[in-house]
Amino acid sequence: MDSPRISIRPFKLSDVDDFLEWASDDRVTRYLRWNTITTKEEALTYVEKVVIPHPWRRTICLDGRSIGYVSVKPESGDNKCRAHVSYAVGAAYWGQGIVAMALRVMISSALKEFPDLVRLEALVEVENRASQRVLEKVGFLKEGLLRKYGFCKGEIRDMFIYSFLSTDKIL
Ligand SMILES: CC(C)(COP(=O)(O)OP(=O)(O)OC[C@H]1O[C@@H](n2cnc3c(N)ncnc32)[C@H](O)[C@@H]1OP(=O)(O)O)[C@@H](O)C(=O)NCCC(=O)NCCS
Repeated sequence: MDSPRISIRPFKLSDVDDFLEWASDDRVTRYLRWNTITTKEEALTYVEKVVIPHPWRRTICLDGRSIGYVSVKPESGDNKCRAHVSYAVGAAYWGQGIVAMALRVMISSALKEFPDLVRLEALVEVENRASQRVLEKVGFLKEGLLRKYGFCKGEIRDMFIYSFLSTDKIL
């Protein structure tokens, strides 16, 4: 999708109702490192304490309203050359190219905003085919399988690792 109705911007506290709409859906949070958010109070605390202070987390908007997010978290010290990427969009919007579009914007913005970055990386569960496909669509390279790499929803999982280097071409 390349639509003028889709945009990316920092979160605001006033996004909380729209945020709750997709963050309360277990299908959306299933492969994310954070848990489904069920109440408005919880959503407000999360947006205020976690989302807004994040180094680079943007909401994906449809007609200005939050329908998902994309984030980049650079490491520090000797590892500041790399950053971890994360993303999701409400289930009603899956399969429309929205996250692919958001990732393309994210890559060029993050590489400009964090000049030390040379590598963006993403970890994806083996069953999460849509997430693997979206990364491949925008130019990330699957580097391999990390066996029993980390916890997701209480279980230690195998994960594919993907990377995009600052010298790679955005597809
Ligand atoms: C993964 C996710 C971000 C993809 O977002 P999206 O906006 O639907 O992505 P796009 O439409 O740009 O591309 C999805 C691609 O995956 C493909 N796809 C979808 N389901 C698939 C499946 N089960 N198997 C293989 N491919 C699949 C689509 O056909 C599309 O590819 P195409 O354009 O070649 O047809 C979205 O499904 C989501 O938010 N999931 C929940 C959160 C999540 O898993 N985040 C990633 C954590 S690593």
